[in-house]
Parts: sequence; C-alpha cells; structure tokens
Amino acid sequence: MNNHFTRTLVTTALPYANGPVHLGHLAGVYLPADIYVRFKRLQGENIIHIGGSDEHGVPITITADRESISPRDVVDRYHHRNLEAFAKCGISFDHYGRTSSQLHFRTAQEFFREINGKDILVKKKERHFFDPETKRFLSDRYVTGTCPICSNPEANGDQCEQCGTHLSPRELINPRSKLSNRVPELRETLHWYFPLGRFQGELENYVNGHSGDWRTNVLNYTRTWFKQGLTDRAITRDLHWGIPVPAQGDEAKGKVLYVWFDAVLGYISFTREWAEKQGSPDLWRKYWQSPDCRIIHFIGKDNVVFHTIMFPAILLAWNEGRKNDVYSLADNVPASEFMNFEGRKFSKSRNYAVYLGEFLEKFPADTLRYTIAMNYPENKDSDFSWADFQNRTNGELADTLGNFIKRSIDFTNAKFDGEIPYECTEDDWATLGIDWAGSFDKLEQAYGQFHFRDAAALTMQIARSANRFLTDSEPWKMLKTDREAAARTIALSVNLCYTLAVICYPVIPHTANRIYTMLGFQESFDDMVKSGKVRWDMASFPQLHKGHKLLKRSEILFRKIEDGDIAPELEKIERILAGIRRAEDDGTREEMHFKPEISSDDFFKVDLRVATVTGCEKVAKADKLLKLRLKVGSENRQVLAGIAQSYSPEFVIGKNVILVANLAEKKIKGELSQGMVLAVEGNDGRFNLVEVNGSEIDGKIIQ
Ligand code: MF3
Ligand code: ZN
Repeated sequence: MNNHFTRTLVTTALPYANGPVHLGHLAGVYLPADIYVRFKRLQGENIIHIGGSDEHGVPITITADRESISPRDVVDRYHHRNLEAFAKCGISFDHYGRTSSQLHFRTAQEFFREINGKDILVKKKERHFFDPETKRFLSDRYVTGTCPICSNPEANGDQCEQCGTHLSPRELINPRSKLSNRVPELRETLHWYFPLGRFQGELENYVNGHSGDWRTNVLNYTRTWFKQGLTDRAITRDLHWGIPVPAQGDEAKGKVLYVWFDAVLGYISFTREWAEKQGSPDLWRKYWQSPDCRIIHFIGKDNVVFHTIMFPAILLAWNEGRKNDVYSLADNVPASEFMNFEGRKFSKSRNYAVYLGEFLEKFPADTLRYTIAMNYPENKDSDFSWADFQNRTNGELADTLGNFIKRSIDFTNAKFDGEIPYECTEDDWATLGIDWAGSFDKLEQAYGQFHFRDAAALTMQIARSANRFLTDSEPWKMLKTDREAAARTIALSVNLCYTLAVICYPVIPHTANRIYTMLGFQESFDDMVKSGKVRWDMASFPQLHKGHKLLKRSEILFRKIEDGDIAPELEKIERILAGIRRAEDDGTREEMHFKPEISSDDFFKVDLRVATVTGCEKVAKADKLLKLRLKVGSENRQVLAGIAQSYSPEFVIGKNVILVANLAEKKIKGELSQGMVLAVEGNDGRFNLVEVNGSEIDGKIIQ
C-alpha cells in the first residue's frame, strides 16, 4: 500500500436500475464502502464516495418488455427507489448519478472516439443470433438455453447463474430467444471489438504489482482470465436502449455501446457531476488524473474482471500516447463474496430476497447495518438469518450498547442533575482496564484493510467492557457512602458514551447521532465529523469536562425484536421455499438401497474435516478432474476431484468443503491426491461439492 495519497475516491458498483437493491447487495458493496468512508472521514481524510444507477443494458430492456412499460419508466422508478432506500440506510454518497445523464453520454462517447481514433478498436462482421419474429438481434442476455457446464436449463447467454461460468450464447444447448421463445437464427452484423490482448502485459504488471495487497479472490479470478489469454471483446450491441455508438456513417446505425463499456465510465462521469455540484468543474481531475489520489472500487465477486481487466484496459487505451489527462488505475478492488439469506442464495427471479427499502419500513437501519457488518462476506460466503438479526439486536445492541448508554445517562440525570460531576484525568481513564492504544491500533488496521467484521466485533467488545465497568462499580450503591467515587464512576461512564458514539459511527451512524444528542450537543454528529470538529483520535481519551450538561432526557436506543416481529418474515420464507422445493422435486424419487450396517467405531475411524479451497485448476488430459489446493488448519493438501463438469475452477476457490483427511494418498493421472472431498451426484450425473457454512473453520472436525 502506498502512503503518498492525499485523497481517496471510493466507488461502489452501479446497481442496475431494473429492480430494488436487496440485502445481499448491501452486504457486499454499499455498507462496507460506507463504513470505510465514514471511518476515513472521522480520521479527517479527504475522501468522496461516488455511486449511481446503471441504467442501460439488457437487464433494463428485459424488465421493460416483461412489464410492458418503457425502459425509461423502469429506470426512473428504480433509480428513485434505490436512492431513497440507500438514504434511509445511511449510505452517505457524495453523489449518486445515473448513466442516462447527458454528461455521462458525452463522457462515454468521448472515450469511444478517443480509442477508436487511435485505431485500437477492431471492426468485425460476425454471425449473431437474430429473433425472426421480433426482427431484433439478440444480445447475449436475450438468449437463454441449457448451460454446457452444469446443465442448468435457464442459463443466460452471457453467464450461467448456477455455476458462474462466463458463456457466449452460441455455447448454449437448445438456445431460445427470450423475446419470443423461438429458436434464433444466425445473421451477420458489424461490431467494434476491444482488443484486450493488446493490453495483457500491462494489465498483468498492474495486477502483479498488487499481489501483496489485493484479496486472493480478486487475484485468482483475474489470473484465470490471464491464463486463458485475453481476447477481443465486442463493445457495441444491436440494441435500441443505450448510448449511441459515435461513429460516422450508416455503420453505427441502431447500435449502442455495450453496457459494461459505458457503466464503468459512469464512475468518471459521476465524479465530474459531483465536481460541478461543488462549483469546481475541474476538481474531478484531482481524483482521476492525479497520482496522489487513491481509487478504491467496492464490488461483488461477479464484477471482478470488469474492474481488474476491462475498465483498466479502457483507461490504458485512453492513456496510450498521451502526456496529459492521463487516468490512474485503481489502487484496490475489494470484491466481496456473497451473503446468502437463510442458507440459500438470494434469487430475484424466485423472489427469494429481502429488499432494502422493505426491510427499513419494519426495522431501524442501524440494527441492519450492525448485523450485516458482523456477517460481512469478506473472504467467504456468509449468511443473513432472522434469528441472528434478532439475537444481535437484542443481545448486543440493546442489552450491551443501548443498556450501557441509557444507564449512564439516566443515572447522571437522576442523581447529578444532568451534569458531569467530576473531571476525569488520563489516570482515571487508564484505570478502566481497557487497552486503548491496542484497541485503537487494531480498529485502525481492521478498517484500513477492509476487515469490517473485525472492526464491528472490536467495537462491541469495547461496549461490553464499558457495560461491565458500570455494572461492577455499582455507583448506585456508592452514592450514599462515597459520593465522590460515584461521581467519578459516572463521569467515566458518560465519557465512555462519547467514546462509543465516535467509534460506533462508521457502522451505526444514526446511533452515534442519537448518543451525541443525549450527551447534550445540538449539532448533528455527521456535520461535526464532516467539519473535522469530531475526530477519531478524540475517542481514546475523555472529552467531557466537569460541569458539561447532558440533554436531561434519554431514549431507548434499540427496541428489542420480539419473536412476533420476525414470525411473519419466517413464514414468508417458508412459503417461498415450499414453492421452490415443489418445483425442484420432480417426484421421481428412487427406492432407497442403503449399504450394510457399520458400527459407530467404524464410522469414527473416518477423519472428516472442514477444508477451505485456496486454489483450483484443471488437470491436463482429464476433462472431469479439477485439482484443488486445500487449507486444513495448519496443513495444506492437494486433492483431485471429479467435478470439472460442474464448476469452472475460479468458482470453487473460497468454498468450505468436507475432506476425508485420513484416506491413503494415491496418484490419479500422474497427480498426487491426498484425500477426498465429499460431493453429491445430481440427477444429471454431475457432482456438486458438499459445502459448510462459516468462516475460518478449516481444520475443524466434522462429527
Ligand atoms: N450493474 C452491474 C451489476 O449490477 C454493476 C455495474 S458496476 C460498474 O452487476 F462499474 F460497471 F458500473
Ligand atoms: Zn452452469
């Protein structure tokens, strides 16, 4: 990591404005980014957060077709809904743009012209799928069919959602048009291709330069593409919704820029819009074209290569041969894994999801922010469950943090007339038994390295210590015998409330605000942070002096979540799951033939362990085998598994699998296999890995 940066630009993946954002999006992208940005603001850094709606591409037109409304109506509806939900959740964008804006059209077209003008793009006529009924060329996403890898019958023409493989529509088995359900024809059409291969060397250098600070999943996904060799990618489409291709003549008629080409440039257009809003139209250059700005893209794992290959390649193409207006490449791309919901993937098409806006109509934002921060899918898929949400809200937020704050403030109001009765010294502070230097060090590292789960957990740890201090000191008992000692305890407690407001702010900003108000401050905490009057380092020593007056009124910070509050939610999932199960169960179950009985002693001879896949590649001349590298506690193993037809290698990395750890080693196709991983055979004869939920559980015994 570089230390010469004086400015930071944070971007978050632009959600398609064709539906509401759900908790999975929040967990992977927007909340972590917001936590990071708020922490850096507290530290007084110059940082901006730029995001917005992705309003082009086939996801939008498909929604419009399905609902028989115009694409414009679709994006208007969801842009506003998402913007509103984000605001309610406290995601503090400095600017939230839209790719349908004029400035964005200009920016994207300027990039195309510049790159095309340098003769970098390649024009090719190729045969593409065409729907004979609607007389339209079908972009990848308009074609559906059976995945050649995992047999999912509803794979999209660009990617199979089930196994994650990137596809081209012509690889699909039994392709059909999503518009008419007809079998498409192949027709010739002209497109502009971006020669990614031309930049492979530069891109590899760029990525290798970050091998020490980027996440393994990001490096792995990207390197899989390098290994396969980068090829030409079409950056135009035959579509009626999008940014017109700015080329002369008839050639470009009816064609628009490929949505990914335009979307990533949205980050730049929106920074320009932000700069205009600041009354300083050139200010964006200080972020994009200045080596002292650190650029960070928060994204989900499905967007990695667009941010580590495609976008940097576009910028490199722009930069080629230029002395001025040279763009910088991102310093980090913290891509998250996925957060599941009650043990299953979120699925918009099956309505198996919780939408952010809906959630916030029922529960307060900070309870959600906290639970999700504690389940941040940093390097493994994680899970959101209603039970966990209830437990964390009640046990941690209400009983620990909320309870401590309320007791401290109520006691001061009741017994000391709402005034801090004692001047805390550094020595008093040191007697609290909290390792301030150590904790702050750890917190700063956790935030700086995007370990948001650790940061949230450490923060709650400090709240726990504070709560214990107050309970153990029993000032209510001391009051009669030693009023000075009670005064000292309560002054320390109220100062701890201030500290907690500051350190909680990145994760639960609304709560920080409310604590600050109860502590007797009129200004909004947000404003104080933005103006630099409240700073991170102030949290590590007492800030409130003797005589400081509290609000004299307290409120309950977190209402407990009763079983009755979440019962309807659980019922709703049950209903949806029952529907999914019915659909999945094809009713052709065979009779069960079990193997002969064994004793439990026999069973316990088998050493089953959780193992995390740290690497995965194909095996030469064996089309069914993948070679897995596994981490099992302190050991590493290499195991061959017959799952190549179910997964592409990069999709296996990060999974927690079950390893038969004491199986004799053997050689398969000349490769050593040290054990076996468990898998189930699907109805189609392909094998799926048995996975275990949880984080940092490799090495654990399964029994
Ligand atoms: N709209 C895309 C998605 O939801 C993300 C676009 S990110 C951007 O997957 F960088 F391209 F804008
Ligand atoms: Zn598939």
